[in-house]
Amino acid sequence: MLITRHADASAVLADPRYVPPPVAQDAPEGTLAWLRARVSRFSTGTTHDERRLDLVALLDGIDPAGLRADARDLTRRRGGDWRGVPTTVLGAALGVEDASPVADAAAGYLSGSGGPAADTAVAKLLASAGIPEITLLLQAHTATETLIEHALRHRTPGQDVDALLRETLRHDPPLTVTRRVDTLTGDEVTIDLVSANRDPSVFPDHDRFDPHRRHSPHPEDSPHGGSSPHLTFGYGVRPCPGPAHALALAAGVLEGLVP
Ligand code: HEM
Repeated sequence: MLITRHADASAVLADPRYVPPPVAQDAPEGTLAWLRARVSRFSTGTTHDERRLDLVALLDGIDPAGLRADARDLTRRRGGDWRGVPTTVLGAALGVEDASPVADAAAGYLSGSGGPAADTAVAKLLASAGIPEITLLLQAHTATETLIEHALRHRTPGQDVDALLRETLRHDPPLTVTRRVDTLTGDEVTIDLVSANRDPSVFPDHDRFDPHRRHSPHPEDSPHGGSSPHLTFGYGVRPCPGPAHALALAAGVLEGLVP
């Protein structure tokens, strides 16, 4: 089933009956598939709750403002060559000195189709970092770089970086779909985040890229809930725990690119 309406997408994401599609649990130790069986993202129930708490605790210890400044400085020091900057900066904040294998490992992290290069990269990371730190780096890598790519397409001189990123997230989400399995029927559900983020019943003038758009709270939340109405960072049972960190890393890179 394909879900495109914002209200339906929010309902599925908030309902524990829908879980991520299961991943293999019997892969050889130290491979990408082995790692995927051990992370929060692909687990359910109390296992998910416990793994997620570890990640949230790690993120709580990292100040987004520091990430932003470090990403800005490193982008400038590299003369604008920003690829890899978010991962290097986040890696340093997590105590991972060599985050260079992250790109290869991240390529197949969500899909599971990594191949030997991904397995080698995972083995290198495991030699010097724990699973929670590696999880954060793999989750962050592709999504944050894609956000920066998309924002650069819309950037105009003198533009407010935070407003640009907010509207880029809604209009051009780095992750376009997320999947769930209905535990009652076994049916697979695909949530189309691009369509949900342009649902005309939630977003007036939905197709227009408007960095001045007022981003009100999610319609299902209390007026004081404060969560964003777009679904780019997920919603409900297992939303992204790192939106502030993602925005800080992306904003720092964009600031570093301004001459
Ligand atoms: C623009 C950048 C990012 C986007 C668009 C994004 C988006 C998402 C989404 C949609 C999910 C939920 C997936 C689902 O419900 O099926 C998610 C999960 C997650 N994200 Fe992000 N993310 C970004 C950056 C980051 C960063 C920088 C970090 C870490 C610092 C991070 C850490 C995680 C983790 C650990 C999960 C799994 C949560 C769980 O298992 O409960 N993400 N992300």
